[in-house]
Amino acid sequence: MATSPASPPGPEGSPRPSRVLDRVLVLEMVRVTEYAAIAASRWIGRGDEKSADQAAVSAMRDALNRLAFDGRVVIGEGERDEAPMLYIGERVGTGAGPRIDIALDPLEGTTITAKAGPNAMSVLAIAEEGGLLNAPDVYMEKLAIGPGYPPGIVGLDRSPSANVKALAEAKGVRPSEIIACVLDRPRHEALIRELRELGCGIHLIGDGDVAGVIAVTNPETTIDIYLGQGGAPEGVLAAAALRCVGGQFYGRLVFRNEAERERARRVGIADLDRIYALEDLARGDVIFAATGVTDGSLLKGVKRLRNGRITTESVVMRASSGTIRWVRGDRRGDPPTR
Ligand code: FBP
Repeated sequence: MATSPASPPGPEGSPRPSRVLDRVLVLEMVRVTEYAAIAASRWIGRGDEKSADQAAVSAMRDALNRLAFDGRVVIGEGERDEAPMLYIGERVGTGAGPRIDIALDPLEGTTITAKAGPNAMSVLAIAEEGGLLNAPDVYMEKLAIGPGYPPGIVGLDRSPSANVKALAEAKGVRPSEIIACVLDRPRHEALIRELRELGCGIHLIGDGDVAGVIAVTNPETTIDIYLGQGGAPEGVLAAAALRCVGGQFYGRLVFRNEAERERARRVGIADLDRIYALEDLARGDVIFAATGVTDGSLLKGVKRLRNGRITTESVVMRASSGTIRWVRGDRRGDPPTR
């Protein structure tokens, strides 16, 4: 990715700050995820996934369209013919300003929101043009560990057992002391059996693997490793977060049929078997922002208080500076809509 020769270098080992990703954008991104999360929060526990998602999508689009940039959605609600808003390729922003690629999920965890479960969030990541993998809407095999381990001690070219054993050795514990996070799905039956044979603790999540992957970076969750298949778009979003906070992530697209392979080719993926590392998914300087919709391991959810005020918790981080900002919002009521 092009970086500005005029930019000062970032901290050692981190990408140079992008001149395109203005510092002002860091905080603007929070407003965008806040708006989407607040809109979705009206639907928490209402059993209506569609309305929750629609509310988040239209609030996020509205907020993005107020910003002075020429944004292109590279990961969004789907292809143009299947998503009326925030479809892949849609241009957002006022059009005046830098060209920016955006990966977004206005409501990561639609089912969670409908059931008032944990870890639903509004999420987005931005990078300079070409900085984010245009991932097709297929599954991705994911493997993530937190920061502080030697590069490449785990990999998707190895079995889950081999990865757990290598991680345990690096951590100085027995494999049975490793805690893995896995989406609770029938497709993970063999994986779960293999982990159980090692005696691992398994943190099974019903949904929301962006939070699941990010959890490996937070010692308070006690989760050491994330394993299993989830959405590829969510994989890019999680990778963007790990680019900012550290950790290792590997992803490989999973195709169930020819139509899915075709989907990948359409977005320009030539090597369908490629294993992607962090930098292949989110390159250069990246900003990641998320606001909790329901309470979760990363963020508290939106609270609508009796006095009409609305509180939010968000995080925004930047790869070049390694800065992580936690933003608590407390507002008089719902944000204005246009
Ligand atoms: P949605 O918000 O689109 O419902 O996605 C939730 C989610 O759990 C993701 O976090 C995960 O990557 C994906 O669904 C897993 O897909 P599936 O439910 O098909 O196993």
